[in-house]
Amino acid sequence: MTATVDTTTSAPNSEGYREFTLGQFTFKRDEYFAYISWPTGSHIMSVDAFLRALQRDVAWNFFYGIVNFDGVFGTMNHYGTVDIFAGRYNDAYRKAELDYTENIETSIIKGVFESMLDDWTNETFDPFASPHETGSAFGVKNGDNRAAITRHRVTAARMVNLPEDEGLRSDETGHPINRHFLDVPQDEPEVEVEPGFENDVASFNLFAYLSRSQVTWNPSVVSVCKDSLYCPTTEEYILPIIHGNDRVEWFVQLSDEITWEVEDRETGAVRSRVVMKAGDVCAMPADIRHQGYSPKRSMLLVWENADPALPDLIASGKTPTYPIEF
Ligand code: PHB
Ligand code: FE
Repeated sequence: MTATVDTTTSAPNSEGYREFTLGQFTFKRDEYFAYISWPTGSHIMSVDAFLRALQRDVAWNFFYGIVNFDGVFGTMNHYGTVDIFAGRYNDAYRKAELDYTENIETSIIKGVFESMLDDWTNETFDPFASPHETGSAFGVKNGDNRAAITRHRVTAARMVNLPEDEGLRSDETGHPINRHFLDVPQDEPEVEVEPGFENDVASFNLFAYLSRSQVTWNPSVVSVCKDSLYCPTTEEYILPIIHGNDRVEWFVQLSDEITWEVEDRETGAVRSRVVMKAGDVCAMPADIRHQGYSPKRSMLLVWENADPALPDLIASGKTPTYPIEF
């Protein structure tokens, strides 16, 4: 734990990239790799995978629970502060007592992560795009890609196509249909609204909307009912983080297929592999971590419960880690 957090950054190295410091963690990159070090150890990751994970951690404001960049490094959200850790959820690091964690105020870690993402992302690379739809992350420093890395998740105020959210309709986004979704019908449903209810009744073609998404593994909130959030997303290649849940979440596979590797949240021990085909529904328990593999662009509905009381209820055992008793 550090009382004052050192967030020094350096002059560019010989490849043109700056070095970053967050507490006692340091971050460096060269042409191919990101290097992370802390008082009890160090770690190396391919820089494309590192930037894809960093992009989501920043854009999702540290998400629900744990964002593992891989089996060693990641963050845990305490909603106001964030733990930054190495080896904390890795059995071998824990047993060797080499794991290391610092707790940092959210605004401070966010600032450093944003600067690092900005400095380390070249003009050719879009961390949100599928590998087939972006250029390279590698090589010496070559410009920046601010438009791509400062995208925000589209948040509906009420529901797509209701008056306050009309701008979210697929035919108004100007986005082309993705190459994998050329067969998705684009017609919109017709609704005849009883006079007086024009402000409250609407519908839209979710498949058409998703067929035009330019990003992968980036859920958008399309409807909110109290704490119940419908967050559909389009997926291709690998979810860039291994998500450690602090609550149950449900997946509805809307098209194609995703394979989920499911591991124990604390140790990383393998628990199961879940193959979801179009129409399949599953719940991910609150004591696991998971990473999805989508061989072809697919549509997934992530159903989240945003109740802020859940992490404590689950951690204290008052609420079970699974969603339903059959
Ligand atoms: C998840 O961690 O549950 C998750 C995150 C992003 C996605 C899909 C699922 O696109
Ligand atoms: Fe998840």
